[in-house]
Amino acid sequence: MKKQIKNLFHFAELDTKIILGLMSGTSLDGLDIALCKISGNGINTTCELLQFETIPYSNELKNELKTIFCKEEVSLEKVCVLNNFIGKHHAQLINQCLQKWNIKNEEVDLVASHGQTIYHAPKHKHPNSCYDNATLQIGDADQIAVNTGIITISDFRQKHIAAGGEGAPLAVYGDYFLLSSEDENRILLNIGGISNFTFLPKNLNFAEVICTDIGPGNTLMDAYIQQHFEGLQFDENAAIALQGKVNDDLLNALMVHDFFQQNFPKSTGQEIFNLNFIEDALAKTKGISEEDVLATLSLFTAKTIANAIQQNIFEQDFTIYTSGGGIHNPLLMLNLQNELPNIKIESTATLGINPNAKEAILFAVLANECISGDSEFYTSNHKNIPIITMGKISLPN
Ligand SMILES: Nc1ncnc2c1ncn2[C@@H]1O[C@H](COP(=O)(O)OP(=O)(O)OP(=O)(O)O)[C@@H](O)[C@H]1O
Ligand SMILES: [Mg+2]
Repeated sequence: MKKQIKNLFHFAELDTKIILGLMSGTSLDGLDIALCKISGNGINTTCELLQFETIPYSNELKNELKTIFCKEEVSLEKVCVLNNFIGKHHAQLINQCLQKWNIKNEEVDLVASHGQTIYHAPKHKHPNSCYDNATLQIGDADQIAVNTGIITISDFRQKHIAAGGEGAPLAVYGDYFLLSSEDENRILLNIGGISNFTFLPKNLNFAEVICTDIGPGNTLMDAYIQQHFEGLQFDENAAIALQGKVNDDLLNALMVHDFFQQNFPKSTGQEIFNLNFIEDALAKTKGISEEDVLATLSLFTAKTIANAIQQNIFEQDFTIYTSGGGIHNPLLMLNLQNELPNIKIESTATLGINPNAKEAILFAVLANECISGDSEFYTSNHKNIPIITMGKISLPN
């Protein structure tokens, strides 16, 4: 038997593995690298975060990615070269981090790589075509496996689609395994570029779990800042939005998009929630300052999150646990609490999960399931969520 297959077999049998989870979200801010010690599988999974780092992308790389990100027409040559470049770049960032943490590559059993989303096209994005749900992440995992020497699991979203899902959100599996509790109903709310939530009932019945994208997270505020405030990537600590006032006409114009009327579960991206979306709404209003636009985008984002949660969760008692970059935006979090006055909002840190690392941790959990996930969970049923393990396996040689 080939040595790498033997290694894979050996790792699959280990109860405790060291898995490096990688996440690079649609904010294009950088690569999150989470070194996780994962034990067990399915609902018995436990995870200890050993190390975590976010390595920002250079402005040059962000600009290169933006030439192919969420656009209907792009240079196919650029897609082709960036697919390999991102894979190799991520491998280099892994090697740098491991060296810094004084950990040898051989000590890591698996890498779990999400890849960089360049287009997300669920059926509702192209309703009249004969095509089904689709999504595309680049950053070839063979580059990661060969350049780190670590077996790499990647491209998780494709199997979700093959099994009937939209390829997003994938947080539900790790949220359910790591964060379900018999003591309370929980909502895990992630505010990245896009926002999504998972509802975890305290009866632990997976058939009652809800997981869906909500709509924009930070993305509209980021896109507006990047367009109107040269040199800024985001509105740090909402410093600019806090100087503005909410404009009701703009708010109402933003709220009418059909996506918010669609049933759960659903997924979305910057293909819909982008500068054009803001400009279309602005065209229906006049005389608004840039600060007022940002204040309005913040309230709009908070309202869409609050509406999604209120409309779909009938339980009276639940606690929200937040994660993702949006939790560092004080105005967004204040607006959210004002929209949900009677609901307790905490960070996932309260549950022992670093809210900045959570998404990367969840992919490490998916990689663990890919090779060791033979638990009872995969015999259960859910009408909206595919019950499958996900990921493709790349060997270093
Ligand atoms: N101090 C801060 N003040 C305001 N906003 C912040 C702050 N820190 C982070 N953010 C926001 O968080 C964003 C990054 O969030 P995050 O990394 O969770 O998103 P992402 O990469 O799109 O992830 P994902 O796709 O997994 O949701 C930034 O672009 C910014 O908008
Ligand atoms: Mg990010």
